[in-house]
Amino acid sequence: MGTLNSNNNAQILPKFNPLDPEQFRNQAHQMTYPVLSQVEPGYLRTQLPQNAPNRPESFESIMKDVQNHIVPGMTHWLSPNFFAFFPATVSSAAFLGEMLCNCFNSVGFNWLAELEMIVMDWLANMLKLPKTFMFSGTGGGVLQITTSEAILCTLIAARDRKIENLGLDYIRKFVIYGSDQTHSMYTKACKVAGIFPCNIRAVPTSIESDFALSPAEFDIWFHVDAAYGGSAGKCPEFRQYLYGIERANSLSLSPHKWLLSYLDCCCMWVREPNVLVKALSTNPEYLRNKRSEYDSVFKSLRLWFVMRSYGVANLQSHIRSDVLFDAVVPRCFSLVCFRFSPNKEHELGYTEFLNKKLLDSVNSTGRIYMTHNIGATFTEDRHVISTWKLIKETTNALLRESVF
Ligand SMILES: Cc1ncc(COP(=O)(O)O)c(C=O)c1O
Repeated sequence: MGTLNSNNNAQILPKFNPLDPEQFRNQAHQMTYPVLSQVEPGYLRTQLPQNAPNRPESFESIMKDVQNHIVPGMTHWLSPNFFAFFPATVSSAAFLGEMLCNCFNSVGFNWLAELEMIVMDWLANMLKLPKTFMFSGTGGGVLQITTSEAILCTLIAARDRKIENLGLDYIRKFVIYGSDQTHSMYTKACKVAGIFPCNIRAVPTSIESDFALSPAEFDIWFHVDAAYGGSAGKCPEFRQYLYGIERANSLSLSPHKWLLSYLDCCCMWVREPNVLVKALSTNPEYLRNKRSEYDSVFKSLRLWFVMRSYGVANLQSHIRSDVLFDAVVPRCFSLVCFRFSPNKEHELGYTEFLNKKLLDSVNSTGRIYMTHNIGATFTEDRHVISTWKLIKETTNALLRESVF
């Protein structure tokens, strides 16, 4: 028989502290992994058996191997200390949307699905894309997996349109131009699309001309790869980076890079959806029925969840929290000279007005006092970090109130 005598327990057990900071620190340290994988390629082969098990294994034993062999071989893209390639964004809304997609496990046969059309138009509206890219206008968009896939589909549509006009023999003469700043996947996509490697050109660009190309002078299919930066276009102050988009034939942007969505998610809009559909459609007998034609592709659920859960205002703040400030001159000694600069096209006087407004708001909190520099005898990193946080919070609050 057990006993209810609490005095007995008190003698046996050490003092119970559910949130012991020292114990937490020790345990948390044991959970940390290097951000960059520390193993050599091929290491996993030496750790795992050569064949799949014949009999089922327990969940615990699988998880043990995940912990001991898989995780150490990973590079942790979600670590706050990961500063490589591009940010792999994440959010609880996207996670839930993903879970829901997995639960339904729906096979979306028809890619022109209703929710997808709505989501693509929502995002197009946020970015203020011309109606020529929207289903509510004369164009439309489709969700792809990656930018590589979007570029490949675009190339195939552009290629087939030309083949239709000129004939198949001309494929040997098709030339693809990209700026010399273009991501390397473009060369790969050209090769997959059957473009001869000698016909893939990298056009030199320079900082003096802002790395610009002028494709609209020629009768060519003009695609804009806005994989990372495109998401910023939903903030009016960054819309300038999409100026001229009405001259493009297609545009792609990856919400998994800067729009709080999970990998893989790439949005692609085209001015002439029929050209894309014609190039990529198949029409097998088993899909020629009403159900398949209107079935929904659940991939779009993920993006729909993100947009609905956060709203445009929060999605804008997410972008703004990263890129609203300029270092006006290089730092010298402890003098840091920066300014709030949401739109590079503002008159200098207006930028000064914005900065004064921001400075007054920050100082009116009473938490800090700033004039034109940072630093006092007892200032430590933590003070600078909390000051910066306050500046960013105040900026976002002012932007939300449309003070600017
Ligand atoms: C501008 C740009 N284009 C294309 C890519 C390749 O994207 P994905 O891996 O989705 O094919 C990237 C990835 O970093 C990118 O930044």
